[in-house]
Amino acid sequence: MTETRRLDEIALELRNALTRLPRTLPPRWLYDDRGSELFSQITGVPEYYQTETERQILTDHSAAIAEITEATTVIELGSGTSDKTRTLLDAFTAHGLIERFVPLDVSEQTVLDAAEMLSGRHPNIEIAPVVGDFTRDLHRLGDVESSGPKLVMFLGGTLGNFYVEERRAFLGALGDVLSPGDWVLIGMDQVKPVDRLIAAYDDSQGITEAFIRNALTNINATYDGDLDVGNFGYVPFWDGRQERIDMRLRADEPMSARLEGLDLDLELGAGEEIRVEISSKFRPERVVAELADAGFRQPSSAGDHVFADENNDFALVLARRS
Ligand code: SAH
Ligand code: TRP
Repeated sequence: MTETRRLDEIALELRNALTRLPRTLPPRWLYDDRGSELFSQITGVPEYYQTETERQILTDHSAAIAEITEATTVIELGSGTSDKTRTLLDAFTAHGLIERFVPLDVSEQTVLDAAEMLSGRHPNIEIAPVVGDFTRDLHRLGDVESSGPKLVMFLGGTLGNFYVEERRAFLGALGDVLSPGDWVLIGMDQVKPVDRLIAAYDDSQGITEAFIRNALTNINATYDGDLDVGNFGYVPFWDGRQERIDMRLRADEPMSARLEGLDLDLELGAGEEIRVEISSKFRPERVVAELADAGFRQPSSAGDHVFADENNDFALVLARRS
């Protein structure tokens, strides 16, 4: 497929998302250079406990993960800065089997910077970054060579940013492209009291709000648009039935906008919303069951390969393609 054709697909996907009701946004629009920088800042705000908690779990269990999987190739989807991955690669290096690390991210600059940082730190591992989309390009993982088992990591709770059907499609595609004996390691934020969850997506410094708004700025810049970003209020709330945080932008006043590059005129009424992002919260057993549907099993008795912090704030599930 040519690059032009791909760009058209991405434009069409956005056009459909903005036009269909309810209006939504594909997550990739959050992560231009500015968005990736804002996300990096989110991982450091006091209310956003997830990054540090996941880092601690990885620190505690990376040696076991290297030993259990004996992976020679580690792939990270939506790798961002690969910051937490450093610890894990240290443990894999100490274990002595790892040959290659493949970070994949839609944000080109971020993934290339991360690869450079890791090359400096791990001269004996081949660092092979891929600029790609994990909702479209998983088949490319079939081309990644490996003398032994592969381990695909999906950290940061990014699994929670899919709607249920998208999550099933993603795990299914992962099951299709991996071989028996390969592994996945998936990070998830756990269900917990609502006040902490809301605070994590509505931090007092307003960085999350800026991150969400920046998606519209990015779209304006990409498609020569005039969406009035200032006319939108940030509306995060907890959807208790679906057990997910739902983040929306709501038009205060009626508005019209044109996105020249999409040949799209948009009319929004007062109070009309764009659903920008969801972040589902999990019970690990549920993800274990969904992984089983996609062909991944936990080799020994259930629970052995669920790693969590002592408060059960976050969890990592390890499972093998059978
Ligand atoms: N794994 C990192 C970053 C999580 S943020 C961490 O745990 O901190 C989500 C990352 O996924 C961002 O780096 C973003 O650029 C990337 N991303 C979002 N949508 C994507 C897509 N469709 N394909 C590939 N990467 C995507
Ligand atoms: N995977 C992260 C999460 O769901 C992404 C994220 C963090 C995020 N903060 C956000 C997405 C704020 C949208 C808005 O927690």
